[in-house]
Amino acid sequence: MNETIRKVGIVGIGNVGKAAASTIVHENIADELYLSDIDSERAKGEAYDFEDSIELTQSRTRVIDVPLEGLAACDVILVAVTERSQIPSQSRLELLKGTAAITYDIVPRLKKAGFQGKYVIATNPCDIITYLFYKLSGLPKSHVIGTGTSLDSMRLRKQISKVVGGIDPRSINAFMVGEHGDSQIAAWSHVTIGGQPLDQFEEDNQDELGKIDRPSVEDTARHFGWEILTRKGNTQFGIGNELAFFAKSILNNAHIVTAASVVQDGEYGQTDLAIGVPIVLGKHGVEKIIKLRLNDQEQQGFNASAELIKGYIKQTLD
Ligand code: 2OP
Repeated sequence: MNETIRKVGIVGIGNVGKAAASTIVHENIADELYLSDIDSERAKGEAYDFEDSIELTQSRTRVIDVPLEGLAACDVILVAVTERSQIPSQSRLELLKGTAAITYDIVPRLKKAGFQGKYVIATNPCDIITYLFYKLSGLPKSHVIGTGTSLDSMRLRKQISKVVGGIDPRSINAFMVGEHGDSQIAAWSHVTIGGQPLDQFEEDNQDELGKIDRPSVEDTARHFGWEILTRKGNTQFGIGNELAFFAKSILNNAHIVTAASVVQDGEYGQTDLAIGVPIVLGKHGVEKIIKLRLNDQEQQGFNASAELIKGYIKQTLD
């Protein structure tokens, strides 16, 4: 029987990389999980520790520490590298100098080692780093995927749930689009509750819910990462599970819809950047970009976000 061995790699075994590895191991998402870090002893120690955790679970995942080039045979490489010394104070964009330097080092090495799989990138600033991975890797744009506004969209659904009487966020269709950062915007004109457009839901439930304060809901979701970071010094489990979810969706050919930071070819009127939009994700990576017809206000916000990202990309590529 030609059993396919599902191989996932993680580069950057810090808080986010460890959180992703934990979900991958304990949900049996991969048969082989390869850990690589600039501190090879850290990667080895984490691999040993995960091995200790497996016997008490249903997991069959084998966890192996490897040098960077050892990831080249993986189907998917999850990217969670960062400048360990840096904790951003105002914006994820502060991390760019350090994370761009790491990107310029690791992507050519993985290309030379023959990596042909999919990248899923959480490293911030996510959109700019995703585009840099695309430009340096030589891989098709469908293979280079940033987590982008996937986590932000989950945060938006969670906030909307609170103002519509606690309806499960998984029954709410809502997307943050744009930068994984302060310039992201909610595509309110496409929010549905159980398939009903939000405007109609609000009208039908006016007495019970009153008027939803959309700017406040959107702003809380936009800045939720800071609510966590200022209290614990980082975020890890939300973004770690996003990485694991992207890996699972690719390996299982899920054809699932999620927001992600992907290279644009005009679908939203923009080119030459990666930015957060809804996509269909499966074994080929980005299978489709879903083109929401944003209203004028939303399109203006999206364009401003795109210009901000392109400005930073220009700095990085020059
Ligand atoms: C977040 O928003 C890590 O940027 C990521 O949690």
